[in-house]
Amino acid sequence: MPRKRHGDGAGSEAPAVAKRSVMAAHERVPVPISGSHSQAYSRPTELHSERAPFEDAFDAALRPRSFDEYIGQRRVVDNLKVFVEAAKKRGEALDHVLFCGPPGLGKTTLAHLIAGELGVGIRPVGAPAIEHKGTLASYLTGLTERDVLFIDEIHRLQVVVEEYLYPAMEDFRIEIPVGEGPAAQLIHMALPRFTLVGATTRTGLLTSPLRDRFGIVLRLDYYSPAELAEIVRRSALRLKVEVSPESCLTIGTRARGTPRIANRLLRRARDFAEVEDGGALNGVICEPHCSRWLTRLGVDELGLDEMDRALLRTLIERFDGGPVGIESLASAVSEESDTIEDVYEPYLIQEGFVQRTPRGRIATRRAYQHLGLPLPNRPTAAGVDFISTGGRNGQQKLF
Ligand code: ADE
Repeated sequence: MPRKRHGDGAGSEAPAVAKRSVMAAHERVPVPISGSHSQAYSRPTELHSERAPFEDAFDAALRPRSFDEYIGQRRVVDNLKVFVEAAKKRGEALDHVLFCGPPGLGKTTLAHLIAGELGVGIRPVGAPAIEHKGTLASYLTGLTERDVLFIDEIHRLQVVVEEYLYPAMEDFRIEIPVGEGPAAQLIHMALPRFTLVGATTRTGLLTSPLRDRFGIVLRLDYYSPAELAEIVRRSALRLKVEVSPESCLTIGTRARGTPRIANRLLRRARDFAEVEDGGALNGVICEPHCSRWLTRLGVDELGLDEMDRALLRTLIERFDGGPVGIESLASAVSEESDTIEDVYEPYLIQEGFVQRTPRGRIATRRAYQHLGLPLPNRPTAAGVDFISTGGRNGQQKLF
């Protein structure tokens, strides 16, 4: 599949030299770098898992401060602890790390934790902000020994920039042009040994030469409701908000497996708790109120929001349950196909509402049932006949 390059051609006005400051490990509020990932999304977001610009500081304030405070992703965190400890013992830079997975699951948090646990600085940047080789060179030359360079959305690096990164990752050197015209020369410049931490929501868009240069590749999964409930409990403590254990679980269950959404729902529930009924609840978040507030926010018992349901309804009503191509589906719901693929679809697939097939997306029996729509008792465009050929227990679709 040809690789999409969102940032292509946008670089002519970029500053050639990026800011040089490297964040100390203990400062975990991200340095706002102009054009970084937080500005990359075109639509402000309310409840789903894309990051709204104002949320970076909020997320940072609620981040765990050590691996031991980190809830969930046990296998990933346990392995990282070992790799970090081993690198520290040897006094070496940690191998380059790639985090993959849907947005909001903790890739940025883990990058900061790695730097913190290594006791080194971190330089965070979104790939679209690295508009040409010179920008990348200034980031690289601003690092000191064993620092972390964190590139978010690394699948969005431009080809020339990506290729410039290869020798930096592999041999810790780059070529710098010196002089102009016929006398121009390329000089080799040695870099400090650093750790590149890359994050991507789209492993499939990463080229194999780039992927192969990461010694540690870790995939983040959705969190369980119990893990999210615990994250909500901890965030509430930090925000000094009172939340009942039942409401922690309500929020955890409806947060689409995503800490960022759990924290977002917590903030909205806090608004309701402070204002509803003339403030009678005194800011306390408890049942049955919390469940009702989340429903009022458009988030249902399974955590699907309005866009999730619009996608399912469109798939079923406009496209006969599918199969339908992503571009047709995207234009029918007036959303970017990238956003559907990055943000919405992974959860709908994981929860068994949608299946991705070579011919396109199809709605499953669960999608019809969740929306309260009648199951088709005839073969659909997808060749699915839920009633007469719906699998052994009527659970599965057929082609
Ligand atoms: N806040 C956001 N994500 C978290 C996590 N995984 N553990 C603890 N606190 C968090």
